[in-house]
Amino acid sequence: MARWTSRAPGPTIAAIMRTEDKLVPRALRGATVDRHPLWLMRQAGRYLPEYREVRSKAGGFLDLCFTPELATEVTLQPIRRFGFDAAILFSDILVVPWGLKQKVGFQEGEGPKLDPIKHASELAALSLDGMTERLAPVYETVARLKQDLPAETTLIGFAGAPWTVATYMIEGGSSRTFEACRRFATEDKAGFLALINLLTDATIQHLDSQVTAGAEVVQLFDSWAGALEGEAFERWVAAPAQRIVAALKQKYPKLPVIGFPRGAGAHYLGYVKVSGVDAVSIDQDVPLAFAREVLQPVVAVQGNLDPLVLVAGGQALEARVRAIAEALGRGRFVFNLGHGITPQTPPDHVAELVALVRAIKPGRG
Ligand code: CP3
Repeated sequence: MARWTSRAPGPTIAAIMRTEDKLVPRALRGATVDRHPLWLMRQAGRYLPEYREVRSKAGGFLDLCFTPELATEVTLQPIRRFGFDAAILFSDILVVPWGLKQKVGFQEGEGPKLDPIKHASELAALSLDGMTERLAPVYETVARLKQDLPAETTLIGFAGAPWTVATYMIEGGSSRTFEACRRFATEDKAGFLALINLLTDATIQHLDSQVTAGAEVVQLFDSWAGALEGEAFERWVAAPAQRIVAALKQKYPKLPVIGFPRGAGAHYLGYVKVSGVDAVSIDQDVPLAFAREVLQPVVAVQGNLDPLVLVAGGQALEARVRAIAEALGRGRFVFNLGHGITPQTPPDHVAELVALVRAIKPGRG
């Protein structure tokens, strides 16, 4: 008698179900859905004990990102536990500067540390050559996920947007004021443009490689878009997003692209119009009426539960989930947070959220 191995031979169901039939792509293009799709930014991470266990064995954070077996495992953990409708590749936006040969490290409890770029002359040390090879483990993770995910789960790839990645490269880590970066952009506009152009090319290449490996939707994280105003917003946030979306659409006309210009406030609509994204992820400060009346007629909307309301749980959570679904549930909509889940979030509250969203019947008309 034949012995069965733990992995079934031949193609899995996941390899057979078409992307366009899955819930997230359906909701993004405005097809009728029988429930609202749900996933959470940073759904893999320190709030989960099973993540902390893998993390403690992996060595550094980048080792975790660059070990396909472990990165696949932590991506799957929240899918197993909560059954989210999408899995986001486990990686980080700072693998791109690392791929361009800038020194990047993560110190426990301190966040990222990079050798800061102080002058445009230092850009010569950065290079796209070999980036795809350096980041090959990330693409292998995508390919493994495509095999291992449940049939109905959408696989989301991502990258940081050029402006946000540039802030880390110039500040050397997290910042509150972005003083060094904004000064660089103002005092050496040509040098800063060269960096943004390099990052735009790198982002296109990085997302292209993820789609080739199996990512079905991509999200562009511009976490610090809210630090810019007027012409600077157009130049450093909207224009690069436009170039990235256009390049991806040229090669993959049907690829859904989600933009997340966090904190963009009054600039959200301009961002959507200029960039050509299919969906916009909105932070918790965006008023629901604005999202419904101004954004949703032109684009799908993803969001926007305050991560701290998820930490609170209970009635506050229930009331807010209902308010969001009532406001946005009649249009193109994916339920998400307004920003990443925080480490102190009780996993039980996430389970509560999943039950709440699942119980809502999407209204039409
Ligand atoms: O969403 C997911 O589950 C996928 C994985 C993911 C991570 N980072 C894993 C991570 C994604 C999509 C990101 C994006 C990211 N990374 C952003 C954009 C989104 C946002 O939050 O604004 C930014 C700005 C970064 C840069 C970054 N990475 C910072 C500032 C930090 C330190 C802060 C922190 O939360 O520790 C990281 C580290 C990081 N990236 C962790 C995880 C799970 C925690 C590291 C650890 O486990 O020790």
